[in-house]
Amino acid sequence: MATTKAEELAKKQREISVAEFFEKNRHLLGFDNKRKALLTAVKEAVDNSLDACEEAEIVPEVLVELIDMGNERFRVVVEDNGPGIVKEQIPKVFAKLLYGSKFHRLKQGRGQQGIGISASVMYAQLTTGRPARILSKIAPNKPANYYELKIDTITNKPLILGDEAKEWDKPHGTRVELDIEGSYLKGLQSVDEYLKETAIINPHVTITYVNPKAEQIIFPRASEQMPKQPKEIKPHPYGVELGILLKMMSNTEFRTLQAFLTNEFSRVGPGTAKEICEKALVPPNTAPKKVSRDDAEKLINAIKETKIISPPTDCISPIGEELFEKGLRKEVNAEFYCAVSRSPTVYRGNPFQVEVAIAYGGNQQADGSINLLRFANRVPLLYQQGACSIYKSVTQTNWKPYGLQQSNGALPTGPVTIAVHIASVWVPFTSESKEAIAHYPEIIDEIRLALQEAGRRLQTYVHKKHRVKNQLERANLFERYIPEVADALARLTGESKDKIVKHLNEMIKKKEIQEEIMEMESLKGEADDEKADDNGNNGNGNGEKD
Ligand SMILES: Nc1ncnc2c1ncn2[C@@H]1O[C@H](COP(=O)(O)OP(=O)(O)O)[C@@H](O)[C@H]1O
Ligand SMILES: [Mg+2]
Repeated sequence: MATTKAEELAKKQREISVAEFFEKNRHLLGFDNKRKALLTAVKEAVDNSLDACEEAEIVPEVLVELIDMGNERFRVVVEDNGPGIVKEQIPKVFAKLLYGSKFHRLKQGRGQQGIGISASVMYAQLTTGRPARILSKIAPNKPANYYELKIDTITNKPLILGDEAKEWDKPHGTRVELDIEGSYLKGLQSVDEYLKETAIINPHVTITYVNPKAEQIIFPRASEQMPKQPKEIKPHPYGVELGILLKMMSNTEFRTLQAFLTNEFSRVGPGTAKEICEKALVPPNTAPKKVSRDDAEKLINAIKETKIISPPTDCISPIGEELFEKGLRKEVNAEFYCAVSRSPTVYRGNPFQVEVAIAYGGNQQADGSINLLRFANRVPLLYQQGACSIYKSVTQTNWKPYGLQQSNGALPTGPVTIAVHIASVWVPFTSESKEAIAHYPEIIDEIRLALQEAGRRLQTYVHKKHRVKNQLERANLFERYIPEVADALARLTGESKDKIVKHLNEMIKKKEIQEEIMEMESLKGEADDEKADDNGNNGNGNGEKD
């Protein structure tokens, strides 16, 4: 009997491991070209270092070293002074995709999917065939653990090629070494830019960077103040979808629907739980596991019709106006700085908060375009600008009243850096590589309001500067005619010419205007002083725009 087509196909049908999937689709994780791959590998490791240090309340000191091995291959080294990783976990953390501590919780963090560092390990083995080398130590009196790891992509399981205890003269921390194919270029999408922006948005971090030319660049911290540890929260009912509700109900340990709703969601007390059940016509004492699909749907609708207060917002850890401004001051040389932190608000049940900082003037961007810096949960976003909510809000804002030029629907122009940060327990990225923030209307609106608030502060400065500059121009113009005018007046009035010249010079108030300008520019002076102090021997090297 001839085999049917379906039977033929059946022979070819088999499971695909997540590792195989991403091995083929590495562009989804930020490894689409050599330049971006180098950035992504550094970014994943540094983001993890900062997350780990902050969770352990350790002021982060991170070393990033790129060693050029020729042939478009680089050794990427990232070392931190974080809490370290316990021995048994190291292989899974680095050599198993979708393994991590952050996915199953609602808490603001840099990582969320549990895929970042293992994807970098996979990319390393894919492009150079070399295993990742990990050294990690969890306490001063314990030896460090050293591993050489690859990923078995067919099973998505770690392959351990080396495993030994080692001495390490560090009390605790983690060191990751990956050999990858990459390409090192400076510019807006470079490792250098990423580190500079990381320093802006994390003023409490010190980064030592050794670039492929073996030059050392230090980004010193501007503050010892650690960010407030964000609290983990439960999901808010407004954000829950049918499938999720069904899954939660079948996994819960609570015996009644009312107890389930009260305990597994934020802001649902017994009264609200009862109200939801009543509206859905499902008895509150029903066992959650027994709730049917239809009833679950009724519950979802009832949730929508019930007034539930917004989730608590202490789960968000913003930078704050003062530190955001400080961070920008230390890396961007300008005349005027301001920062705005909005109050937290909510999209689909997820709290989020928007912050904006602006640096104006100085010798920024000779070509006139503004410098837009985008950040999500303290991570710089360097790709996919056009697809990002932040870009959308900036282009939709009318910057002309604030003293910047702008053609319709475009970014404004002028000597400005606009930095926008969104902090959330769950940042809605448009893809796994976390490059752009999805267009949620609530998010776009909040960003716009923050931009407008910062814009108004900018406006005050820009207008004053224009006014004073015009005054100076007029004074200069008049000054040029003083000898002639004085001559004429002397002849008409019989007064001495010298006296008239003196009076006229007083009248144009050039000195006062100049003083006012000096005062405005002294803002820039302060920024310069601070920069010099902070940098120590490092001079002007930190993160200058190339
Ligand atoms: N440098 C580090 N120090 C301590 N723990 C780390 C470090 N790097 C990674 N981890 C742990 O490994 C997990 C997996 O990291 P990763 O694959 O980047 O996923 P994610 O950061 O999205 O959770 C993290 O959740 C964290 O628990
Ligand atoms: Mg990560």
